[in-house]
Amino acid sequence: MSTLVIVGTQWGDEGKGKIVDLLTGRADVVVRFQGGNNAGHTLKVSGEQIIVHLIPSGILYPDTLNIIANGMVVDPSVLLKEKESLQQRGHFLKDKQLLISDRAHVIMPYHRIIDHGREEFLGKAKIGTTGRGIGPAYEDKASRMGIRVGDLLRPDILDQRVRSALDEKNFLIEHRFKLAPLDPGQVVEEYLDYGQKLAPHITDTTHVLYNRISEGSRVLFEGAQGTLLDIDHGTYPYVTSSNVVAGNVCCGSGVSPTKIENIWGVVKGYSTRVGQGGFPTELDNDLGEEIRRIGGEYGATTGRPRRCGWLDLVVVNHSVRLNGLTGIALTKMDVLTGISPLKICTSYELDGQLIDRVPANTKDLERVVPRYREVKGWDEPLGLCRSYEDLPKNARDYVETIEHLTGVSVNLVSVGPSREQSILRKSSF
Ligand code: IMP
Repeated sequence: MSTLVIVGTQWGDEGKGKIVDLLTGRADVVVRFQGGNNAGHTLKVSGEQIIVHLIPSGILYPDTLNIIANGMVVDPSVLLKEKESLQQRGHFLKDKQLLISDRAHVIMPYHRIIDHGREEFLGKAKIGTTGRGIGPAYEDKASRMGIRVGDLLRPDILDQRVRSALDEKNFLIEHRFKLAPLDPGQVVEEYLDYGQKLAPHITDTTHVLYNRISEGSRVLFEGAQGTLLDIDHGTYPYVTSSNVVAGNVCCGSGVSPTKIENIWGVVKGYSTRVGQGGFPTELDNDLGEEIRRIGGEYGATTGRPRRCGWLDLVVVNHSVRLNGLTGIALTKMDVLTGISPLKICTSYELDGQLIDRVPANTKDLERVVPRYREVKGWDEPLGLCRSYEDLPKNARDYVETIEHLTGVSVNLVSVGPSREQSILRKSSF
């Protein structure tokens, strides 16, 4: 197998960074195809913790090519800071470790202002965005008003496009958000400077990817967020602004669907969500607080406490179907030690009817009553388990219940944050 897609099956924060980092050891190329610095992938290597927001997780391997593909939205100031911080820690020492698509869209200062301003106006009805300007940047892409990474290398084009965007944005900034308008000249100057600094990385990445796949290189596509945050298939409107599902690998990186061979979904052993929106299995009690504390469930990007709850297989099965999962990576099993019984949600009750689908309407999602299957927990810590047989019987039963109820094989079980704390059961990558 030479291509593998990794996607989140819940509301993000499933531990994708660790899984991608682990499998990256076997990859020649790692590609991010959607989202931006709203993501935060936590990598832990030899006791050192590194969080990357924009740069693909393969950056810690010096010989791996990392690609920020066309489907992403890129904040150049964040990217440059991330590069510098990695370099200070002895990583990312060669420019050729990273390529950025000239077609990716740029997050501009007005996108961040609009993201914050809108959330403030929405008050209680806010989405709970990460405030990074992601939504407004994707809006401009769709309205043909966006600035693309390649434009940062073209002073004439950048100047004209920024001026035309600011004609509209400054009206909003001044009259709706009551803030000082942005000066087009200053914005252009700042972004041309970013363009110069990023120039060694900018290229047409679709060609590079086409050639690498044709040569038989092993390519890993790293999803960000989770399927329930997908703009079409998630819990709209409490979602992010891009398609998160595996199908978007093709649009977001310019790789044909016929080249995608395997798709793994990352499932956390319980559920979490940051931001607003329905969450049927939420534990708004001491147990939820305990899971948050043991699992360190605080946003890698915003530091916000994550809401915690039981594993929801209605949600996971929605993701199994939408992504066509060929395997599951099950994470954070160690966090569940000491909780018994454990509950797994297998269906919802809505207006007296049992359903096994995620309702489209967020109001309905807030009203569903989860139906659970109870399974026995275990008391043994799992952090030192290195093979499947090392896991206590009840932990293996938990894994096998998930396999049985999803119809997808659990190829990897993660029992802690480090690379070594991973039990790889099956991998053809
Ligand atoms: P945005 O992507 O900043 O527009 O935020 C939209 C929603 O997606 C909010 O509920 C965020 O908390 C959520 N979100 C965005 N990125 C992530 C992520 O990487 N993990 C978890 N939630 C995320």
